[in-house]
Amino acid sequence: MLFKKQSKLDMENIPEHIAIIMDGNGRWAKKRGLSRSMGHREGSRTLKKIVEACYDLGVKYLTVYAFSTENWSRPKEEVDELMKLLYEYLQNAERELKGKNVRIIVIGDRKKLPDNIVSEINRVEEKTSHNHGLNFIIALNYGGRQEIVDAVNAIAEDIRYGRITEINEELISQRLYTRGIPDPDLLIRTSGELRLSNFLIWQSSYSELFFSDVLWPDFTPKHLEEAILSYQGRQRRFGGVK
Ligand code: IPE
Ligand code: IPE
Ligand code: MG
Repeated sequence: MLFKKQSKLDMENIPEHIAIIMDGNGRWAKKRGLSRSMGHREGSRTLKKIVEACYDLGVKYLTVYAFSTENWSRPKEEVDELMKLLYEYLQNAERELKGKNVRIIVIGDRKKLPDNIVSEINRVEEKTSHNHGLNFIIALNYGGRQEIVDAVNAIAEDIRYGRITEINEELISQRLYTRGIPDPDLLIRTSGELRLSNFLIWQSSYSELFFSDVLWPDFTPKHLEEAILSYQGRQRRFGGVK
Protein backbone atom coordinates (compact mmCIF):
# COMPACT_ATOMS: atom_id res chain seq x y z
CA MET A 1 0.00 0.00 0.00
CA LEU A 2 1.53 3.26 -1.11
CA PHE A 3 -0.54 5.52 1.10
CA LYS A 4 0.11 5.01 4.77
CA LYS A 5 -1.97 6.09 7.73
CA GLN A 6 0.02 9.30 8.28
CA SER A 7 -1.17 10.66 4.94
CA LYS A 8 -3.07 13.91 5.40
CA LEU A 9 -5.43 13.08 2.56
CA ASP A 10 -9.15 13.15 3.16
CA MET A 11 -10.14 9.78 1.75
CA GLU A 12 -13.76 10.96 1.50
CA ASN A 13 -12.77 13.69 -0.96
CA ILE A 14 -10.54 11.97 -3.49
CA PRO A 15 -11.10 13.44 -6.98
CA GLU A 16 -13.26 11.11 -9.04
CA HIS A 17 -11.37 11.98 -12.23
CA ILE A 18 -7.70 13.03 -12.40
CA ALA A 19 -6.20 14.08 -15.73
CA ILE A 20 -2.44 14.40 -16.22
CA ILE A 21 -0.30 16.10 -18.85
CA MET A 22 2.86 14.03 -18.45
CA ASP A 23 5.47 16.55 -19.55
CA GLY A 24 9.23 16.92 -19.16
CA ASN A 25 10.67 13.60 -20.34
CA GLY A 26 12.98 15.31 -22.84
CA ARG A 27 14.36 17.82 -20.33
CA TRP A 28 14.84 15.07 -17.75
CA ALA A 29 16.99 13.15 -20.23
CA LYS A 30 18.91 16.22 -21.40
CA LYS A 31 19.88 17.10 -17.82
CA ARG A 32 21.52 13.67 -17.58
CA GLY A 33 23.15 13.70 -21.00
CA LEU A 34 20.78 10.94 -22.18
CA SER A 35 18.73 10.67 -25.36
CA ARG A 36 15.13 11.93 -25.31
CA SER A 37 14.05 8.32 -25.81
CA MET A 38 15.57 7.40 -22.46
CA GLY A 39 13.45 10.14 -20.92
CA HIS A 40 10.32 8.62 -22.44
CA ARG A 41 11.34 5.18 -21.18
CA GLU A 42 11.71 6.53 -17.66
CA GLY A 43 8.41 8.39 -18.06
CA SER A 44 6.68 5.14 -18.85
CA ARG A 45 7.98 3.69 -15.55
CA THR A 46 6.57 6.69 -13.71
CA LEU A 47 3.22 6.12 -15.36
CA LYS A 48 3.01 2.56 -14.02
CA LYS A 49 3.59 3.82 -10.46
CA ILE A 50 1.03 6.60 -10.79
CA VAL A 51 -1.62 4.25 -12.18
CA GLU A 52 -1.06 2.00 -9.17
CA ALA A 53 -1.24 4.94 -6.77
CA CYS A 54 -4.53 6.13 -8.29
CA TYR A 55 -5.91 2.61 -8.02
CA ASP A 56 -4.93 2.39 -4.36
CA LEU A 57 -6.53 5.76 -3.65
CA GLY A 58 -9.82 4.71 -5.21
CA VAL A 59 -9.69 7.23 -8.08
CA LYS A 60 -12.40 6.19 -10.57
CA TYR A 61 -10.97 7.80 -13.74
CA LEU A 62 -7.39 8.63 -14.64
CA THR A 63 -6.74 10.20 -18.05
CA VAL A 64 -3.18 10.68 -19.23
CA TYR A 65 -1.90 12.62 -22.22
CA ALA A 66 0.49 10.23 -23.98
CA PHE A 67 0.73 11.64 -27.51
CA SER A 68 -0.89 14.74 -28.97
CA THR A 69 -2.02 15.45 -32.52
CA GLU A 70 0.81 18.01 -32.57
CA ASN A 71 3.50 15.54 -31.45
CA TRP A 72 3.77 14.18 -35.03
CA SER A 73 5.87 17.25 -35.76
CA ARG A 74 8.76 15.81 -33.71
CA PRO A 75 11.72 14.11 -35.40
CA LYS A 76 10.73 10.75 -36.93
CA GLU A 77 13.08 8.77 -34.65
CA GLU A 78 11.41 10.23 -31.57
CA VAL A 79 7.90 9.55 -32.90
CA ASP A 80 8.92 5.97 -33.77
CA GLU A 81 10.36 5.46 -30.30
CA LEU A 82 7.22 6.83 -28.64
CA MET A 83 5.04 4.51 -30.75
CA LYS A 84 7.27 1.58 -29.82
CA LEU A 85 7.00 2.41 -26.12
CA LEU A 86 3.24 2.78 -26.33
CA TYR A 87 3.00 -0.54 -28.12
CA GLU A 88 5.09 -2.24 -25.42
CA TYR A 89 3.08 -0.54 -22.72
CA LEU A 90 -0.19 -1.88 -24.13
CA GLN A 91 1.29 -5.32 -24.72
CA ASN A 92 2.43 -5.63 -21.10
CA ALA A 93 -0.50 -3.78 -19.58
CA GLU A 94 -2.35 -6.74 -18.09
CA ARG A 95 0.79 -8.32 -16.65
CA GLU A 96 1.76 -4.97 -15.10
CA LEU A 97 -1.69 -4.51 -13.65
CA LYS A 98 -1.38 -7.88 -11.89
CA GLY A 99 -5.03 -8.76 -12.11
CA LYS A 100 -6.12 -5.39 -10.73
CA ASN A 101 -9.61 -4.26 -11.55
CA VAL A 102 -8.52 -1.69 -14.16
CA ARG A 103 -10.31 -0.91 -17.41
CA ILE A 104 -8.15 0.56 -20.17
CA ILE A 105 -9.73 2.94 -22.67
CA VAL A 106 -7.87 4.77 -25.44
CA ILE A 107 -9.12 8.11 -26.76
CA GLY A 108 -7.93 10.01 -29.82
CA ASP A 109 -7.95 9.61 -33.58
CA ARG A 110 -6.86 6.05 -34.39
CA LYS A 111 -6.77 6.50 -38.16
CA LYS A 112 -3.20 7.80 -38.17
CA LEU A 113 -1.84 5.23 -35.70
CA PRO A 114 0.23 2.24 -36.88
CA ASP A 115 -1.82 -0.96 -37.36
CA ASN A 116 0.03 -2.92 -34.67
CA ILE A 117 -0.91 -0.28 -32.07
CA VAL A 118 -4.54 -0.19 -33.18
CA SER A 119 -4.86 -3.97 -32.80
CA GLU A 120 -3.20 -3.85 -29.36
CA ILE A 121 -5.62 -1.10 -28.34
CA ASN A 122 -8.59 -3.19 -29.48
CA ARG A 123 -7.25 -6.25 -27.69
CA VAL A 124 -6.57 -4.50 -24.36
CA GLU A 125 -9.83 -2.56 -24.40
CA GLU A 126 -11.78 -5.74 -25.03
CA LYS A 127 -9.84 -7.76 -22.46
CA THR A 128 -10.36 -5.19 -19.68
CA SER A 129 -13.85 -4.09 -20.68
CA HIS A 130 -15.52 -5.82 -17.72
CA ASN A 131 -13.32 -4.16 -15.11
CA HIS A 132 -14.83 -1.33 -13.13
CA GLY A 133 -12.30 -0.37 -10.42
CA LEU A 134 -10.17 2.28 -12.09
CA ASN A 135 -10.91 3.50 -15.62
CA PHE A 136 -7.50 4.24 -17.05
CA ILE A 137 -7.85 6.42 -20.15
CA ILE A 138 -4.88 6.93 -22.46
CA ALA A 139 -5.05 9.92 -24.81
CA LEU A 140 -3.18 8.82 -27.91
CA ASN A 141 -3.05 10.93 -31.05
CA TYR A 142 -5.43 13.09 -29.09
CA GLY A 143 -6.20 16.74 -29.78
CA GLY A 144 -8.98 18.66 -28.08
CA ARG A 145 -9.76 20.70 -31.18
CA GLN A 146 -9.83 17.62 -33.43
CA GLU A 147 -12.15 15.96 -30.93
CA ILE A 148 -14.55 18.90 -31.19
CA VAL A 149 -14.31 18.88 -35.01
CA ASP A 150 -15.20 15.16 -35.00
CA ALA A 151 -18.14 15.85 -32.68
CA VAL A 152 -19.42 18.66 -34.90
CA ASN A 153 -19.21 16.42 -37.97
CA ALA A 154 -21.11 13.65 -36.18
CA ILE A 155 -23.78 16.13 -35.16
CA ALA A 156 -24.04 17.49 -38.71
CA GLU A 157 -24.68 13.94 -39.87
CA ASP A 158 -27.38 13.47 -37.22
CA ILE A 159 -29.08 16.64 -38.40
CA ARG A 160 -28.86 15.65 -42.07
CA TYR A 161 -30.68 12.40 -41.30
CA GLY A 162 -33.19 14.08 -39.00
CA ARG A 163 -32.00 12.18 -35.92
CA ILE A 164 -31.78 15.30 -33.74
CA THR A 165 -33.48 18.66 -33.61
CA GLU A 166 -31.57 20.45 -30.85
CA ILE A 167 -27.90 20.96 -30.09
CA ASN A 168 -27.01 21.52 -26.45
CA GLU A 169 -24.03 20.99 -24.11
CA GLU A 170 -25.15 17.51 -23.19
CA LEU A 171 -25.30 16.44 -26.84
CA ILE A 172 -21.83 17.82 -27.58
CA SER A 173 -20.41 15.99 -24.52
CA GLN A 174 -22.01 12.81 -25.80
CA ARG A 175 -20.32 13.17 -29.18
CA LEU A 176 -16.81 13.63 -27.76
CA TYR A 177 -14.34 10.74 -27.40
CA THR A 178 -14.95 10.99 -23.64
CA ARG A 179 -18.67 10.25 -23.86
CA GLY A 180 -19.88 8.71 -20.62
CA ILE A 181 -16.79 9.83 -18.69
CA PRO A 182 -17.27 12.61 -16.12
CA ASP A 183 -15.22 15.80 -16.58
CA PRO A 184 -11.85 15.87 -14.78
CA ASP A 185 -11.99 17.22 -11.24
CA LEU A 186 -8.25 17.75 -11.04
CA LEU A 187 -5.91 18.39 -13.96
CA ILE A 188 -2.18 18.13 -13.29
CA ARG A 189 0.64 19.25 -15.57
CA THR A 190 4.23 18.48 -14.72
CA SER A 191 7.49 20.18 -15.79
CA GLY A 192 6.54 23.77 -15.02
CA GLU A 193 4.75 24.57 -18.28
CA LEU A 194 1.59 26.57 -17.68
CA ARG A 195 -0.68 25.61 -20.57
CA LEU A 196 -3.17 22.96 -21.68
CA SER A 197 -1.54 22.14 -25.04
CA ASN A 198 -4.87 21.08 -26.58
CA PHE A 199 -5.74 18.58 -23.81
CA LEU A 200 -9.40 18.08 -22.84
CA ILE A 201 -10.24 21.68 -23.68
CA TRP A 202 -14.01 21.16 -23.52
CA GLN A 203 -13.96 18.84 -20.51
CA SER A 204 -11.62 20.92 -18.32
CA SER A 205 -13.77 24.06 -18.23
CA TYR A 206 -14.28 23.66 -14.46
CA SER A 207 -11.36 21.41 -13.55
CA GLU A 208 -9.06 22.44 -10.73
CA LEU A 209 -5.60 22.99 -12.20
CA PHE A 210 -2.35 21.97 -10.53
CA PHE A 211 1.04 22.78 -12.04
CA SER A 212 4.10 21.02 -10.73
CA ASP A 213 7.70 21.96 -11.53
CA VAL A 214 8.74 18.31 -11.23
CA LEU A 215 9.69 16.67 -14.54
CA TRP A 216 7.45 13.68 -15.31
CA PRO A 217 10.10 10.95 -14.82
CA ASP A 218 10.71 12.35 -11.30
CA PHE A 219 7.00 12.54 -10.41
CA THR A 220 6.15 10.16 -7.55
CA PRO A 221 3.00 9.11 -5.67
CA LYS A 222 4.09 11.64 -3.03
CA HIS A 223 3.81 14.44 -5.62
CA LEU A 224 0.41 13.09 -6.63
CA GLU A 225 -0.61 13.27 -2.99
CA GLU A 226 0.52 16.93 -2.87
CA ALA A 227 -1.66 17.71 -5.89
CA ILE A 228 -4.66 16.02 -4.30
CA LEU A 229 -4.05 17.85 -1.02
CA SER A 230 -4.05 21.14 -2.91
CA TYR A 231 -7.30 20.10 -4.60
CA GLN A 232 -8.85 19.22 -1.24
CA GLY A 233 -8.04 22.68 0.11
CA ARG A 234 -9.95 24.44 -2.65
CA GLN A 235 -13.52 25.61 -2.87
CA ARG A 236 -15.24 24.74 -6.13
CA ARG A 237 -17.94 27.26 -6.89
CA PHE A 238 -18.94 26.55 -10.50
CA GLY A 239 -19.95 30.18 -10.88
CA GLY A 240 -22.19 30.20 -7.82
CA VAL A 241 -21.65 31.63 -4.32
CA LYS A 242 -20.69 29.72 -1.20
C1 IPE B 1 6.27 14.60 -22.58
O1 IPE B 1 7.61 14.93 -22.50
C2 IPE B 1 6.02 13.36 -23.40
C3 IPE B 1 5.39 13.62 -24.70
C4 IPE B 1 5.03 14.76 -25.18
C5 IPE B 1 5.13 12.45 -25.53
P1 IPE B 1 8.33 15.82 -23.59
O2 IPE B 1 8.92 14.94 -24.63
O3 IPE B 1 7.41 16.86 -24.11
O4 IPE B 1 9.48 16.47 -22.73
P2 IPE B 1 10.02 17.97 -22.81
O5 IPE B 1 8.83 18.88 -22.67
O6 IPE B 1 10.68 18.12 -24.16
O7 IPE B 1 10.96 18.09 -21.67
C1 IPE C 1 1.80 17.92 -24.30
O1 IPE C 1 3.17 18.12 -24.13
C2 IPE C 1 1.55 16.57 -24.91
C3 IPE C 1 1.82 15.41 -24.07
C4 IPE C 1 2.24 15.45 -22.83
C5 IPE C 1 1.59 14.13 -24.68
P1 IPE C 1 4.05 18.86 -25.23
O2 IPE C 1 5.44 18.86 -24.71
O3 IPE C 1 3.81 18.27 -26.56
O4 IPE C 1 3.42 20.33 -25.22
P2 IPE C 1 4.05 21.73 -25.63
O5 IPE C 1 4.60 21.59 -27.01
O6 IPE C 1 5.11 22.04 -24.64
O7 IPE C 1 2.91 22.70 -25.53
MG1 MG D 1 7.00 18.76 -23.52
